[in-house]
Amino acid sequence: MRIVMIGTGYVGLVSGACLSEFGHEVVCVDTDTAKIDGLKRGVIPIYEPGLDEVVSVNAKSGRLSFETDLKVAMPGAEAVFIAVGTPTRRGDGHADLSYVFAVAEEIAAHLSGYAVVVTKSTVPVGTNRKVEEIIRKAHPDAKFDVASNPEFLREGSAIEDFRRPDRVIVGCDTDRARAVMREIYRPLYLHETPIVFTSCESSELIKYASNAFLATKITFINEVANLCEKVGANVQDVARGMGLDGRIGNKFLHAGPGFGGSCFPKDTLALLKTAQEYNTPTRIVEAVVAVNEARKREMAEKIEKALGGVAGKTVAILGLTFKPNTDDMRDAPSLVIVPYLREKGARIRAFDPEGAKEAKKRLDIEMCADAYEAMDGADGVAILTEWNEFRALDLGRVKSLLKRPVMVDLRNIYRPETMTAAGFVYVSVGRPNAG
Ligand code: UGA
Repeated sequence: MRIVMIGTGYVGLVSGACLSEFGHEVVCVDTDTAKIDGLKRGVIPIYEPGLDEVVSVNAKSGRLSFETDLKVAMPGAEAVFIAVGTPTRRGDGHADLSYVFAVAEEIAAHLSGYAVVVTKSTVPVGTNRKVEEIIRKAHPDAKFDVASNPEFLREGSAIEDFRRPDRVIVGCDTDRARAVMREIYRPLYLHETPIVFTSCESSELIKYASNAFLATKITFINEVANLCEKVGANVQDVARGMGLDGRIGNKFLHAGPGFGGSCFPKDTLALLKTAQEYNTPTRIVEAVVAVNEARKREMAEKIEKALGGVAGKTVAILGLTFKPNTDDMRDAPSLVIVPYLREKGARIRAFDPEGAKEAKKRLDIEMCADAYEAMDGADGVAILTEWNEFRALDLGRVKSLLKRPVMVDLRNIYRPETMTAAGFVYVSVGRPNAG
């Protein structure tokens, strides 16, 4: 099947490349000429493990190609995916749909045979209907259906998530559209992946409700972690004990510095906006947003306290991205923590395995070549992101490099007993200190 994927951002590029791996002929379209030229030469604009290989193998086989002109890409396409950005609109929490609607206009101009226009971008309830109206108005005779097909990829494991999803959600109204969507995801039937067909409205809401629920789970355990610190309990034990209940599940119960990234912060805000518009409060999500915002600052204060104040001190920061295996800095806790510490007079020496380039654009700090260089002569170290390489630091070396052996581990990657035995002043999240 010929598929057009509009937008070569994170979602579009991963989805386009993986659909070509399913055996479809995929043309990825973007107006950014430099990006498309780069992709044609095999230059991947984002860091996502395994993506370069999927792109190169499928581009070589001829199933995956890149184009700037939609007119060239469209002929013969049975499905046209919209995968452009829907950032938070400045000044309010609404998702900015201008890119989605502009693309709908453009699709209308080039539709010839029947095609399903599939929205993959995360869009508020009602957007697919608007896309349908826009196309219908611009091209009254066009033969098309719209479908909502949200993505559930996690940055850092997106390829595997696409190959083996827990479910595929498709919102559409006609049998013809359902048949096209079924055909697109046919290779997943081998793994018996549930393909859930719903209305567009339900599908759109499934995406927001899923992200808001996961964000709630994280925020819940973060507040439980605060309580653990007060009562002398261990949040990891509490999470494990809770998670063994199949109704709760053990995932997304890792306490930390608060959620970040390009999805949870944006999608929780957008859900609140939709709820306000329909005069139906979602108070739990309101609390999640507020608690998570406050948490990032609280974590900065935790570092400050552990170091006995930071004025005139050097703090080594390990990890700046919102999570490991990505270079994404969007809404990362580090964007609140680092400026806070600097404001309080700290000098920051930081290291991140992949995020240095993005971090430099957003934070005016000294970036180091590795973790040990960052810690050399620092008054203490704080781990903000759980990159694998921070899990097995040479503790003897760390201790000899730091002026004082103070470690604040906001991801709970070390055991308090080990750290205390190694002579560290060790502060983590929701766990009692040993010794
Ligand atoms: C998230 C969802 O997990 C995906 O299903 C969804 O498709 C995606 O958003 C999206 O809407 O596009 P992602 O933002 O890549 O994926 O990252 P997650 O792995 O979900 O982590 C989000 C944040 O929560 C990170 O800051 C992470 O550190 C934090 N987190 C996650 C915790 O603090 N504790 C946990 O137990 C899990």
